[in-house]
Amino acid sequence: MIELMRASKTYDRGRGVRDVSFRINKGEWVLLVGGSGAGKSTILRMMYGALRPDNGDVIVGSHRLSLVKDKDLPTVRRLLGIIDQDLTLVADRSVYRNVSLVGEVLGWTKKQTRVQALRVLNRVGLHAHLDQYPHNLSRGEMRRLAIARALVAQPFALVADEPLIHLDHETATSIVELMAKIHAQGTSIVLATHRAELFDGYPVRKLYVENGELREGTP
Ligand SMILES: Nc1ncnc2c1ncn2[C@@H]1O[C@H](COP(=O)(O)OP(=O)(O)OP(=O)(O)O)[C@@H](O)[C@H]1O
Ligand SMILES: [Mg+2]
Repeated sequence: MIELMRASKTYDRGRGVRDVSFRINKGEWVLLVGGSGAGKSTILRMMYGALRPDNGDVIVGSHRLSLVKDKDLPTVRRLLGIIDQDLTLVADRSVYRNVSLVGEVLGWTKKQTRVQALRVLNRVGLHAHLDQYPHNLSRGEMRRLAIARALVAQPFALVADEPLIHLDHETATSIVELMAKIHAQGTSIVLATHRAELFDGYPVRKLYVENGELREGTP
């Protein structure tokens, strides 16, 4: 469960988001939809603890983020599989090692790391690319790698900022299909997108962000 409770964040010149409240239950697939500058990334960043709200609060699982110290935030963030807008793949590590890095950081055994990394790379369809480097991947494959890395520690929710940006229609559709599979297997998904039409026919709940405010339902 993830909840925002009247969360607000003001940047310079008054921009930001105001009084945003919503709750995402386990198993839901939620889209944050809205134009450029509406506030989608700000909301996501407050959700995964990259940005502290000025007012209000955020709950992730059983944690109220205002009560979580900065040094403990990484532990809470691990409940979520985070994909930020620029993917942050590690350029000098292979596909396999981009994912196995998570196991190393978490102190998993070599065997556990290998099993989990291969499982998730299979799941996103990158099993034939284990030794390639990120710069040799197509844009769609890079997204798949970011998704694999986000999923390897089995988070209860995947949180993605613009996972379809710069993808052609066919590649974007294949990423949506992958997300549908991940969702059907029990992971909650929250994502920000300009391209809500690509999710027509999928069991998504849409939240509209406009001018720093959030509205549920039709645009
Ligand atoms: N670090 C920052 N400093 C100052 N203003 C910011 C900062 N980040 C965002 N803003 C402003 O806050 C508002 C919301 O930005 P945000 O990035 O959340 O929008 P967005 O909906 O994600 O847009 P996009 O679709 O272009 O990614 C915008 O007006 C933006 O200019
Ligand atoms: Mg954004």
